Amino acid sequence: MPKFKTILVTGGAGYIGSHCVIDLVNEGYDVIAIDNFANAVGDDEGSPALRKAEEITGKKITFYKADLLDKPQINEIFDKHEIDCVIHFAALKAVGESMQQPLLYYQNNLLGMLNLLEVMRSHSCYQMVFSSSCTVYGEPETLPITETHPTGSITNVYGRTKYFIEEMLKDLNTADKNWNIISLRYFNPVGAHPSGLIGEDPTKEFTNLMPFMAQVALGKKPVLTVFGNDYNTPDGTGIRDYIHVMDLASGHVAALNLLNDNHIGLKVYNLGTGKGVSVKELVTVFERVTGTKIPLKYVDRRLGDITAMWADASLAKEELGWCARYSIEEMCTDFWRWQTMNPNGYPKKNVKSSVIMNGTS
Ligand code: NAD
Ligand code: WQD
Repeated sequence: MPKFKTILVTGGAGYIGSHCVIDLVNEGYDVIAIDNFANAVGDDEGSPALRKAEEITGKKITFYKADLLDKPQINEIFDKHEIDCVIHFAALKAVGESMQQPLLYYQNNLLGMLNLLEVMRSHSCYQMVFSSSCTVYGEPETLPITETHPTGSITNVYGRTKYFIEEMLKDLNTADKNWNIISLRYFNPVGAHPSGLIGEDPTKEFTNLMPFMAQVALGKKPVLTVFGNDYNTPDGTGIRDYIHVMDLASGHVAALNLLNDNHIGLKVYNLGTGKGVSVKELVTVFERVTGTKIPLKYVDRRLGDITAMWADASLAKEELGWCARYSIEEMCTDFWRWQTMNPNGYPKKNVKSSVIMNGTS
């Protein structure tokens, strides 16, 4: 099979997408990134995150402001570029919002995916890496969680969009053997690029632990609310498998390598560290490496939260040759570097981007 040259990255201006683009460019791939800025800073002048990615890599990144719901627009991009493989990050991901606006989530995440798959098929592009989530497992029956753990018992709409897409991909793989797809189930992505130049800066409200904790450390929020200290865990707080965003990025490069060399149909891999860390443990490490003090307020459990979840990441190690390398200390240090270098995130206005718009300089 010829080596992939051009990779389309949907949601490329977002948190994980923009970090992944750096690794892809450094690996020598030509990257075409698209985003509609539903949850990323940017405008008709481009994406500040991708401009920073250009600064870090010293290479040009082609960017289109494009919406997956606009099928003709996606079709045009495929007409214009010979795309070998798609990494599909674009989705809405806020659990709370998904419960209030289920149709928005089903339309954006499911219809966006359907449009993309149809355009890919019509251009004979059958290779894809899909951003799935540990959320598809629901409340774990066994720990650590392997890829064979049952999926589908999910309590929120966002999670169900990921589950439905995985089911859709199974049907597609059964019906048409041309497809070559890897679904990566990420655990809890945190951290930022070690340069401090790019990081997480959503336009929608965020509720995840690390960005919230960093806002408290910056003095922008008064206190970190800890959701429950009566869980059946050693210190009573919830346990998760936090993974550095640059480890996720290298997981995507590893997935591309596998797709490049093999016809695998459809495969699913956990991307996690394999280690569970409690809320209290994460706060303690964050305080230590940043030299800050995080005031805590213990409240009731958050509705829908699970007690503990961490990955068995051995399949990714065996078959992708990938494993997570960054420590919890590095995740906190790198996130804090990004936050202190950019306390207000990316510049929100008048960004003169060197990113190529609509394929022209
Ligand atoms: P993000 O919101 O930062 O990135 C997603 C990007 O997709 C955003 O920039 C958004 O503007 C774009 N987008 C959304 N709908 C679009 C559409 N219709 N057309 C074009 N662009 C669109 O989120 P992220 O944290 O980078 O997540 C990337 C992917 O990984 C998502 O699919 C998410 O569900 C999945 N995931 C994230 C996490 C997490 O905790 N961050 C965990 C597991 C899985
Ligand atoms: C982590 C821990 C909270 C905030 C979410 C999505 C999931 C996946 C990853 C996309 C939990 C506790 C949090 C706070 C707290 N995303 N916490 N105070 O809930 O594991 O997963 O992101 O696929 O689908 O649901 O991540 O960072 O919100 O919470 O005590 O202010 O921190 O209760 O134990 P979660 P999180």
